[in-house]
Amino acid sequence: MSNWIDVAAEADLFEGAGIAVTPLNLDIAVFKVDDGVFAINNECSHGNAKLCDGFVEGNFVECPFHQAMFDVRDGSIACGPATEPAKAWPVKIENGRVFLDVSANG
Ligand code: FES
Repeated sequence: MSNWIDVAAEADLFEGAGIAVTPLNLDIAVFKVDDGVFAINNECSHGNAKLCDGFVEGNFVECPFHQAMFDVRDGSIACGPATEPAKAWPVKIENGRVFLDVSANG
């Protein structure tokens, strides 16, 4: 069963960087890129860096610590040194609000 939680206003999003949101105490970064709005785990899978602070180019975010690159659309790794993908979360936009489905928690 899905569990959509309102995490932000669509107007809070901007291109070039992510924003951090914390539904159910999860740490998730939401990105607005050319292909739409996407959400992946905020903490880098390689270390204690926040991907919301990373540089966004196209559909990719670059970790601010060691420059691993993640595809924000699915969390996959485009460039190391990270070896684990970032968990991706389903996103929907309704009435100007951003919702995440956190039922896939865990
Ligand atoms: Fe993100 Fe090392 S902490 S690449």
